[in-house]
Amino acid sequence: MVGYRYRVCKGRVGKQVRVGHYFLMIAFCLSLLALLFIDVIESWVTCLGMSRPEGPQGAVLTQSIQPTRSEEFLLMPSSHVCQRAKPYLVTLVASSPANKKARHAIRDTWGGEVQVRGHRVMTLFMVGQPSDPVLGKELIEESKEHGDLIQGRFTDNYANLTMKTLAMLGWARRFCPQARFLAKVDDDVMFNPSALLQHLDLSYKTSEDELVDLYLGRVHMQVAPDHNPHSKHFISKSTYTGTFFPDYCSGTAYVLSRPAVLKVSLAAATMTLTRPLLPEDVLVGICAHRAGIIPTHSPLFSGGPAVPYGRCCYQTMVSVHHTKPADMLHYWTEVHSTAPCSWLGVRTSLGVCKVRALLGRLLGKSL
Ligand SMILES: *[C@@H]1O[C@H](CO)[C@@H](O)[C@H](O)[C@H]1NC(C)=O
Repeated sequence: MVGYRYRVCKGRVGKQVRVGHYFLMIAFCLSLLALLFIDVIESWVTCLGMSRPEGPQGAVLTQSIQPTRSEEFLLMPSSHVCQRAKPYLVTLVASSPANKKARHAIRDTWGGEVQVRGHRVMTLFMVGQPSDPVLGKELIEESKEHGDLIQGRFTDNYANLTMKTLAMLGWARRFCPQARFLAKVDDDVMFNPSALLQHLDLSYKTSEDELVDLYLGRVHMQVAPDHNPHSKHFISKSTYTGTFFPDYCSGTAYVLSRPAVLKVSLAAATMTLTRPLLPEDVLVGICAHRAGIIPTHSPLFSGGPAVPYGRCCYQTMVSVHHTKPADMLHYWTEVHSTAPCSWLGVRTSLGVCKVRALLGRLLGKSL
């Protein structure tokens, strides 16, 4: 009898231990799957959170809009630059006159490429007018040497950043209608045209005449305007009346297809701008919304938090924010001098660097 009871008890304990093991194993497998497919999960969660467009949007009237004139630009490459090069992708880098080092690093890395995955690409820099005349002279020299600067007629400072984007859109619409895609990138971003073109080829492979409206990047949802007058991002109640901005792509890097460039820039041209200006990415989001274009989220664009370096992760990401010029050169050499990563290598590295970025943001430091 005693022996029998003992055996029953032992059996029960054993079963509990086994159930515990199964549970741990399932939890482990689920975490592993989550790590490997973190980008799929991110896209899914973002899709759920995005606001649906409410009804049809008003079309933008085009008759009243003046075409962009070349006099609006103090420096620019030949107005035939796109006619000659016929780029598939034109990347316009928003740069400050003083950030010469960043521009050099970009030219020596991703910006120096002209042919990527069988497509022609071109990278140009957009600057404003520096308040320091010495910097102004240096820009003229730099433009003579490299021929890749576009300078708009506005004072280059933080408060005028939105003018830079409007000038970019105007320039692209007028002087580069040949490009099928326009990327707007900041000069502290490690951009990866190859990863972008791979993504575009896979997801938006359409024939020439059926290009869709595409507004692609890291989507910010449900952002409320900051009405605190002491804040750096202050927006007066009269500048923006809504509770939330429409969903928009983070300004660090985003991509517009040719028809989207046209519609967004025409919508921008009809907006009355009040000071302080809306942040450039918010303004592009509002213009896209007016034109009836919904942003598309891609987990391959990094937003706010820096993405810690991982070779396969950087081989896959389209944009990584907060990259110093010296790091850009270093990462680029390492990422491009080595063999392409395996499927598993990409999955693991992407999962690990995204989790580290997320933890870093939660803990307020980089891991
Ligand atoms: C923005 O640029 C315009 C044109 O150069 C200039 O008049 C204006 O003062 C600038 N805004 C700020 C806040 O500096």
